[in-house]
Amino acid sequence: MQKTRLLAALTLATSIAGLFSASVAAQQYAVVDTTNQPLSNEVCATCHGGAGQGNSVVGGPSLAGLEPWYLRKQLENFRAGIRGSEKDYIPGNEMRASVARLSDAEIDDLVETIAGWKVIENDHTIEGDLGNGQALYANCAACHGADGEGNEALGAPGLVGRNDWYMFRQIKLFKSGYRGVHPDDTAGRLMRPSTQSLKSDQDVNDVLVYINSLDR
Ligand code: HEC
Ligand code: HEC
Repeated sequence: MQKTRLLAALTLATSIAGLFSASVAAQQYAVVDTTNQPLSNEVCATCHGGAGQGNSVVGGPSLAGLEPWYLRKQLENFRAGIRGSEKDYIPGNEMRASVARLSDAEIDDLVETIAGWKVIENDHTIEGDLGNGQALYANCAACHGADGEGNEALGAPGLVGRNDWYMFRQIKLFKSGYRGVHPDDTAGRLMRPSTQSLKSDQDVNDVLVYINSLDR
């Protein structure tokens, strides 16, 4: 088991290099063995932090402050394999394995518990051109709101206060066809085309710097 995981981690390091920019590829993600962990909130804490503050080492984003409707949808998507099924994207695979056996009632409990968690200010880890980011954000506002507040009717989550390193990866996943391509992923398929307006990693950084500048 350990050996397979190590091998998988090494394969990831190689395959990811082509997919992500050097800065992200250089970031190593630790692999967590969840095989024998009970399916409870404790299982989330390993990768998302005890208070849902996130864990950049394993690539788990902060969960505190996520809209309950969006949180539920993503848990259902991972459980159904709509997200996290990519063969060579280990962070997604690990998340999927962690929630694969959750019952509907357990998802209800998790959504309720996480809704009660205090929102923590995330560190800003990305630098870029605010002006260019603001111009680029015009393409995002229709769905995510002028102030990045999100739009439940469209299934678009709020972006303000999310981890910028996590959003960087998600935009790259959408762009490269790792997220937002599953036939049952209606919301993801809505999101994916707009990432084409971000022509370079610098554009992605710039738009995230602008999102970081918005108040929650
Ligand atoms: C083994 C590590 C691991 C465990 C355990 C884990 N997660 Fe995750 N989770 C991740 C990673 C990594 C991601 C990011 C996946 C990606 O990059 O696409 C993620 C993503 C998510 C997302 C999507 C967030 C978003 O903004 O779309 C939600 C929601 C989530 N996890 C909730 C949970 C809950 C609730 C639990 C406990 C039942 C849990 N996770 C357990 C690693 C884990
Ligand atoms: C046509 C509507 C639409 C537009 C335009 C759009 N998005 Fe999205 N976005 C969505 C939807 C819907 C989701 C949720 C996808 C899901 O449920 O998996 C999403 C998800 C995301 C996520 C992932 C959030 C998470 O927690 O995992 C990021 C980051 C994001 N969008 C950023 C952007 C940026 C930056 C732009 C502009 C370049 C943009 N979006 C434009 C609809 C849109």
